[in-house]
Formats: sequence, structure tokens, C-alpha cells
Amino acid sequence: MAGKGRARPDHYTQKAKKEGYPARSVYKLEEIDQKNRLLKPGMRVLDVGASPGSWSLYVIRKLKGQGHLAGVDLKPLNLPKKYPNFFFYQGDIFTEEAGNFLREKGPYDLLLSDAAPNTSGNRLVDTRRSYDLVELVINLADEQVGKGGAMVVKVFQGGDEEELFAKMGEIFNKVKRFKPKAVRSESFEIYFIGLDKREGSS
Ligand SMILES: C[S@@+](CC[C@H](N)C(=O)[O-])C[C@H]1O[C@@H](n2cnc3c(N)ncnc32)[C@H](O)[C@@H]1O
Repeated sequence: MAGKGRARPDHYTQKAKKEGYPARSVYKLEEIDQKNRLLKPGMRVLDVGASPGSWSLYVIRKLKGQGHLAGVDLKPLNLPKKYPNFFFYQGDIFTEEAGNFLREKGPYDLLLSDAAPNTSGNRLVDTRRSYDLVELVINLADEQVGKGGAMVVKVFQGGDEEELFAKMGEIFNKVKRFKPKAVRSESFEIYFIGLDKREGSS
């Protein structure tokens, strides 16, 4: 999908390569983390849509060998080595098996989701698929993120995303929208960030 302006690797792609990350998307999480002070050593973190593994590697580095990370993705990771505090399940987040795996490793202090359905090119279809994915992730956060915890989720704009934002407002004391600098200008993705989870079922 090399569109106009993607012929040469951009600044973030080159930086990712230099710093050992498999994808430039790591700088979206870095900016979100720096602005919201999310990650600390010892936390229990879940990464939904983890492949190729940039966000996961960023988390592992921030955990400094304490706490743990669970990740799930349809595709395998592309990381040079294994980490003892990183548990990965390859499969569809919508399946019972994936759900069981995530529950086994929970509860979590932080849930991250950069998951994005394969784009069809039809914006209506893509925003609908994104909606279903984000709804599932919010339900997972409701169930698996502990009181005071946080979540970050990627959302495609142009559908019913305000419903999702409102749903997050029922679960977290503070919810905000954020478009990191590393998001390509032509992209319609945005991140919803939920902070300070209310008392819930977890
Ligand atoms: C933009 S990539 C994530 C990049 C990752 N954060 C990183 O920095 O390396 C989105 C990922 O979501 C995954 N994904 C989409 N739908 C999924 C599903 N139903 N279950 C699990 N993973 C899914 C895709 O396979 C893809 O790898």
C-alpha cells in the first residue's frame, strides 16, 4: 500500500530501525506515554494487536524486568528474542481461547490496543470493523483492568466513535482523545485514552 509520499522511509521509520523497533508506530505510544505517564516498572500490561511488536518492546523496556506483559495478535511477532515476562498468544481476540489466555494473565494495570482490522478501502466498512474491535477491547478493560488503571485504544474516525468514547466515560474517571504526531496526516485514526478506572467488576 505504498501511496504518495511513502516512497522513502520517513523520519520515524528510520528512527525505529536505529532504536531496534520493528515498526514506526512505537512513537505513537511513546508520545502517549510521555504525556500521560502511563508506564512504570512492575506493572501488568496487556497489548492487543501486538504484532510486529514495537509497542510490546517499548513496554518491556519500560517495565525493566519487573511486572509482566501479555500480548495477542493474529500475526506472529517480529522481535529478535524472547522475554521471560512477555506472554504472547497468536490468534483472534474474538475467540474464546484468546479471551481465556488474557484472563489468565490478568488483571491489568494498563490495557493497550493498537489493533486495527484489515482495511478494505471502504471507509464505512472499516469504521464498522474498528467499532466492533474497540467495543470488545473496552469490555475487556471493564472486566480486566483494576481500579485506578488505564487504557489506550486506537479508533477509526468517521463512524459511531462517540458512542465508544461515552462508553469509556462510564468506566474511567477521565477520558480523552489524542492524535500523536507520528500518525500519518492522511490517516483517520485517533487514540482514546481512559485514565483512573472506576471501581468495577474486576
Ligand atoms: C497497527 S498493527 C499493531 C502494531 C503494533 N502496535 C506495533 O507497534 O508493532 C495492528 C495489528 O492488529 C492486529 N489485529 C487486527 N484484528 C485482530 C484480531 N481480531 N485479533 C488479534 N489481532 C488483530 C493485526 O494483525 C495487526 O498486527
